[in-house]
Amino acid sequence: MGLRIRAARADDAAALDDICIRTGHAGGDATDLYAHPELLADVYLRPYLVLSPDLAFVVANDDDVPLGYVVGVADTAAFEAACEERWWPLVRERHPQGSAEPGSRDAALVQLVHEPRRTDPDVAARFPAHLHVDLLPVAQGGGHGRALLERLFAALRERDVPGVHLGVGAANARARAFYHHLGFTTLEEDDGGALLGLRLDAGRG
Ligand SMILES: CC(C)(COP(=O)(O)OP(=O)(O)OC[C@H]1O[C@@H](n2cnc3c(N)ncnc32)[C@H](O)[C@@H]1OP(=O)(O)O)[C@@H](O)C(=O)NCCC(=O)NCCS
Repeated sequence: MGLRIRAARADDAAALDDICIRTGHAGGDATDLYAHPELLADVYLRPYLVLSPDLAFVVANDDDVPLGYVVGVADTAAFEAACEERWWPLVRERHPQGSAEPGSRDAALVQLVHEPRRTDPDVAARFPAHLHVDLLPVAQGGGHGRALLERLFAALRERDVPGVHLGVGAANARARAFYHHLGFTTLEEDDGGALLGLRLDAGRG
């Protein structure tokens, strides 16, 4: 299978939603775990495509169908402010507070939509960028995750971004080992998961 990396396009949206949902449960398929699995894309994918389209890359097969993606932002604080203004209001309208079954996974995401987490300003200062990367099982383990991240890191370095962070759930040991292998270190950790960071300016004079 010949896979290649390219910039994400608007017409990839449905395929990327699908990848997000099929990798949304600690790296595994989340489709049947949610009444509205597209909420995962509303939180972890779509705002990046809308607000930071130049930092979205896909790995596509011979038919140009995306099998994986990385989405990122260069400035997390600015992105969070833009989401508050231009993204969350749209999702809140579609998923009002109290609209999901109490205690369900949907309810946890609806809560996040209405009360989004804000990144610690110290983390955002040292590691201003952040990212999400997801590949379908068929594309995993072949170097494409690394290739997607390196493509994003090159784009961030071009913008003189000094560091990048990301969150990984406690149940996703495989992804965490992958990130550590690529040089990320643990910045914070609790029962839910870990915040990892990587400086992009190491070795620069
Ligand atoms: C996690 C994920 C992005 C990794 O991408 P991948 O394409 O499978 O990984 P790669 O093949 O590019 O691996 C890159 C390097 O990391 C190493 N690596 C990968 N997984 C590893 C692991 N669990 N432990 C140690 N090293 C690992 C590889 O050996 C490879 O090393 P090398 O480049 O020095 O030879 C991908 O498997 C995935 O999308 N999983 C499902 C969704 C997910 O969990 N996303 C992350 C949510 S936080």
